[in-house]
Amino acid sequence: MLKSSQILDESDKRVRAHNDDVKFPLSSSEKKLIADMLEHLRLSQIEKYAEKYNLRPGMGLAAPQVGFNKRFFVVCHEEEEGVFKDYVLINPKIVSHSEELIYSSTGEGCLSVNREVEGIVPRYARITMSGFDVDGNPVKYRGREELAIAFQHEFDHLNGILFVDKIDPNDPYKNAENMREI
Ligand code: NI
Repeated sequence: MLKSSQILDESDKRVRAHNDDVKFPLSSSEKKLIADMLEHLRLSQIEKYAEKYNLRPGMGLAAPQVGFNKRFFVVCHEEEEGVFKDYVLINPKIVSHSEELIYSSTGEGCLSVNREVEGIVPRYARITMSGFDVDGNPVKYRGREELAIAFQHEFDHLNGILFVDKIDPNDPYKNAENMREI
């Protein structure tokens, strides 16, 4: 299992480094890393395991956050109580997105940001991304609301961008009136 200590803090330069496209076929260690990242996210969202292993709840992780500077991310989304769906997007691209913007009422969190950050992050309400799965098959996923935010948050990581970069510290709720709170 991926330990919490393997997730890099924002102060680590690998979080901000350039990420290269993944080449197929994946190595067995790359496949294992992806499985471990998903396991970590899933367990972190289940209270008894989060406590047992001292995990901070999170629904997404991007490769640079574990010091692997390649273009992929994973999301484990709780679709309904206790029902999780895993997403792996390798070499992702944005296909389309809504005009409508949303933001999370609780603010965004990031397993690499270990401090309280006040403010809102504008995100598209719906987004479609394409990419490849672990076997190199093309995939396309549409996310809305919370899942759309997660996709955009993780995609940003691949460009070395953290959610905190998108908050103006002098005006952390800027343009909130033009977005829908979820
Ligand atoms: Ni993050």
